[in-house]
Amino acid sequence: MNYELITTRIEGDKVAVITLNRPKQLNALNDALMDELGDALKHFDANANIGCMVITGSEKAFAAGADIGAMANYSFVDVYKSDYISRNWETIRSVRKPVIAAVSGFALGGGCELAMMCDFIIAADNARFGQPEIKIGVIPGAGGTQRLPRAISKSKAMDMALTGRMMDAAEAERAGLVSRVVPLANLMEETLAAALMIASYSQLATMAAKESVNRAFESSLSDGVMFERRLFHALFATTDQKEGMDAFVNKRPARFSNL
Ligand code: HXC
Repeated sequence: MNYELITTRIEGDKVAVITLNRPKQLNALNDALMDELGDALKHFDANANIGCMVITGSEKAFAAGADIGAMANYSFVDVYKSDYISRNWETIRSVRKPVIAAVSGFALGGGCELAMMCDFIIAADNARFGQPEIKIGVIPGAGGTQRLPRAISKSKAMDMALTGRMMDAAEAERAGLVSRVVPLANLMEETLAAALMIASYSQLATMAAKESVNRAFESSLSDGVMFERRLFHALFATTDQKEGMDAFVNKRPARFSNL
């Protein structure tokens, strides 16, 4: 795969790492980069060997937002007709395998929104999150006003969206935006350990777990629990359920076949 604005690599056969690569612009997210990211995500999602994906940036910036220079002269007609944002940013929502955001440095505006579209966020201790769009005369446009309140409460989401202030990694962890904070030097090691662990499990189970957790944001509690129960029941039809439970009972490592 030949990309210009991202790089990709495979770790341990089963984990795909996608690195946003516009360092001079602090990984500002333009259309071309988002097209490449969507293409890579779809490619790895369809690769039977891959069990987990990681999206990361540079030490200084995961991504400092949508590319302001590119957006500055857009008209309503431009953005509406081209389905700006929906056209390519939403690709990540269709990815069925788990995706981890490994965030160091700035995750601002669309960068924070991209991190929140991932399944969970592991943050380096230098990470800073924010939705500063208000400062440039707009509001978040890739789900920030919707995912932030679900992740960190209405009050904090309003604070972030209305003041445009940044949140450091410690506050982000306290608020529940990130699952863990690690020293910057250990970010990739810790993220890859988590990704490799996920990729060692049955893909059927990890996809079902992801689908079920995501359902919590789209349904009532009883509908969500029913959805979970039916997926749980369905997994008893898989070879991997037999293998996983037999391995436990017989005190041996499980060898999942994704069947
Ligand atoms: C385009 C950007 C950029 C962005 C940084 N750069 N952020 N270019 N779009 N979002 C560029 C700068 O212009 C500069 O280019 C280079 O990256 C380095 O940035 P500096 O500002 O010199 O770095 P620093 O002083 O360290 O400040 C870092 C920063 C600041 C605090 C992150 O760059 C900043 O405030 N950036 C904008 C953050 C923001 O408003 N994000 C939301 C965007 S709107 P040159 O050529 O001068 O070296 C958005 C909408 C989302 O995301 C809705 C839909 C997705």
